[in-house]
Amino acid sequence: MARCLVTGGAGFIGSHLTENLLAAGHQVVVLDNLSTGQQDNLKGLLANPNLTFRSGSITDPVLLAEVVHDVDAIYHLAAAVGVKLVADDPVRTIETNIYPTETLLRLAVQGGCKPFFLASTSEVFGKNPKERWTEEDDLHLGPTSRPRWAYGCSKAIDEFLALAYYRKYGLPVVIARFFNVVGPRQVGHYGMVIPRFVDQALNGGPVVVYDDGGQIRCFAHVREVVESIMKLMGTPAAAGKVFNIGSDEPWSIRELAEAVIARVDPKIRIEYLPYSQAYGDDFEDVRRRVPDVSRLEQTIGTKPRLGLEAILDDIIAWKRQQRASTTAR
Ligand SMILES: NC(=O)c1ccc[n+]([C@@H]2O[C@H](COP(=O)([O-])OP(=O)(O)OC[C@H]3O[C@@H](n4cnc5c(N)ncnc54)[C@H](O)[C@@H]3O)[C@@H](O)[C@H]2O)c1
Repeated sequence: MARCLVTGGAGFIGSHLTENLLAAGHQVVVLDNLSTGQQDNLKGLLANPNLTFRSGSITDPVLLAEVVHDVDAIYHLAAAVGVKLVADDPVRTIETNIYPTETLLRLAVQGGCKPFFLASTSEVFGKNPKERWTEEDDLHLGPTSRPRWAYGCSKAIDEFLALAYYRKYGLPVVIARFFNVVGPRQVGHYGMVIPRFVDQALNGGPVVVYDDGGQIRCFAHVREVVESIMKLMGTPAAAGKVFNIGSDEPWSIRELAEAVIARVDPKIRIEYLPYSQAYGDDFEDVRRRVPDVSRLEQTIGTKPRLGLEAILDDIIAWKRQQRASTTAR
């Protein structure tokens, strides 16, 4: 049994990870400022004596030193997340996503090289035109005048820092680039596409697709992503490496909208909205984002496999249940 720190543990992915770590018999300290996460995500776990919830910010170095002191392993997921939030507040993105990561890495070394998981993102690949991205491919970030790239750039700096700590101090870091992780508890307020589409469909439509809907994405269920994280952290050969984690099944956003509509109400229509109206004039999007996950599969013997239809069924059922319980209150 280990004592684990999960930063961002009240968030979407962090809460599922916390649940799995507890189920595996570990003790977990969650540090979260509830900016995009919510305590409700840990409902049912808060009474567990193996869980400690600390409300506070990763930007507070004194608090970080205190929580790191008591743990054996660190899962660093807290971040300013989401295309919309990042475009709206690039300063917050940079302050949240860079300095605290460096502080945590330093504390992990000072505490005797505690195993360190870093949540990164497929955004670091930027606009790389390749069909499928491997971890060794070039990063094609856009100009600094476009705030959206601040997110990918901040996470790329985190990766450089983590790898530098691995090389210089032998800190066992595992870095994961997530590709559109989806599932129950994800919210749509910050630009996440599936919760937004499902909410719009359950409200009777229209489902609003940005641009022409020809953007290509892959969607992985959070359950399989969390399993991958835990397997990687239990595999010594994963230390010092970057891994793509995601589904490798490509879908267009238009197909995604159609699949949501088919499940909720086939009469709902799709409305198309230019990016400039959704995110402002200086927004740039990534047309295609498909991972090569062979490194992940070779290292842990598996990869996310659940198909989009099954994932949508799960999310829609969860949303319906949530709405029913809100109405009943
Ligand atoms: N969901 C995805 O598809 C996806 C894709 C790529 C990368 N990621 C990365 O995965 C991680 C988790 O993302 P998520 O989708 O669960 O988002 P989320 O917003 O649900 O989780 C982030 C959590 O961090 C917390 N947080 C933010 N700033 C904080 C601060 N200053 N101090 C303490 N806590 C703070 C939030 O309250 C939230 O609970 C992030 O690092 C994100 O960059 C997610």
